[in-house]
Amino acid sequence: MIKPYGSDQLNPLFVADDAQRSALEAEAEQLPSLLLNSAAAANAVMLAGGYFNPLTGYMNLADAMSVSIEMKTSDGLFWPVPIVNLTEDNSVSAGSRIALRDPNVEGHPVLAVMEVNAVEEVSEEQIDLMAINIFGTLDGNHPGVATFKGLGRKLVSGPIQVLNFSYFASEFPDTFRTAVDIRAEIAERGWETVVAFQTRNPMHRAHEELCRMAMEQLEADGILIHMLLGKLKPGDIPADVRDASIRKMVELYFPANTVMVTGYGFDMLYAGPREAVLHAVFRQNSGCTHLIVGRDHAGVGDYYGGFDAQTIFDEKVPAGALQLEIFKADHTAYSKKLDKVVMMKDAPDHSKEDFVLLSGTKVREMLGQGIAPPPEFSRPEVAKILSDYYQALDAKAG
Ligand code: ADX
Repeated sequence: MIKPYGSDQLNPLFVADDAQRSALEAEAEQLPSLLLNSAAAANAVMLAGGYFNPLTGYMNLADAMSVSIEMKTSDGLFWPVPIVNLTEDNSVSAGSRIALRDPNVEGHPVLAVMEVNAVEEVSEEQIDLMAINIFGTLDGNHPGVATFKGLGRKLVSGPIQVLNFSYFASEFPDTFRTAVDIRAEIAERGWETVVAFQTRNPMHRAHEELCRMAMEQLEADGILIHMLLGKLKPGDIPADVRDASIRKMVELYFPANTVMVTGYGFDMLYAGPREAVLHAVFRQNSGCTHLIVGRDHAGVGDYYGGFDAQTIFDEKVPAGALQLEIFKADHTAYSKKLDKVVMMKDAPDHSKEDFVLLSGTKVREMLGQGIAPPPEFSRPEVAKILSDYYQALDAKAG
């Protein structure tokens, strides 16, 4: 099986030993507390599950700056996005042990215990330098920039031991999986070539066919549909609705035992190319050999070029840094001429009118009015689940 990123063995930061975890839980109740923001909590959950292997905790300022600007830590480890605990809290001191509390669960239970190596003040210039490198913009309308700039100016770094998986395990018991779980399941299924499909959206025909094309071209044993379960910008479809629609599509349109429907506990960054590279790192940690990167991967608005998230792998990722390979997908849509979903590069004689192309806004409008998008765009069973959701939303709003 493909090796984890950066080490021979996966090193998840969840404390799996029950006795050790109970002891830490008891200790944590006596420690000073830091209430995390959602971004830092999501980082802890990803570290817990082995997704961010080989990191052992939150990065210090030197690493965060170096990762933002050069995509590597001070020690030279290639890494695309700073994994940080930025806070507004002034009470934490270097050299202490603290309990990290979960902002997303009622009562703020302890999520992790942290050994604080350093507490560093981050200047406005440093925050901006990080943001422009990660997101490619400082525009406050970019949801990732707005979140990042609102996290605080104290950077608390050091190793962590994680005690649970926040709300992800309880809210999405059938879907939330750690990198450790996924590796184990891939091994159990005996799959060798495994293609990951990242998504934060329901899957329409184009997405479905992308998975099928990747599977066929790579002669893969299986597909890992790996959806984001954390926070999204307003207007994105909530994880439970998306999960239901994806499961329906897989049940009806894929052969049995060729797809794993899973999710990970992280908030969307909307960092386009940089996030795509992070996606690649954590799919390698999950045991996948390939990741599909299509049009405007992890993008938002018009901040990134349609295929920037592909070119970054050629231009900025050092050769050999990753063992996982990228399956590059061109803009994909249903061709009326050929009567099937195709990548546009494979239909050079087509004009725009030859494809069934609908904007996200148009699809939302149709679903909200109970009008199903054409079956060439969306499977009727998928459209039904989404339409029920939008109509309930509109009823509530109205
Ligand atoms: S993402 O933010 O998680 O990347 P989304 O769920 O919309 O968003 O996309 C999942 C994957 O499908 C990404 O790799 C994206 O580039 C790809 N994709 C989505 N729609 C298309 C399309 N019409 N053509 C090609 N690739 C697409």
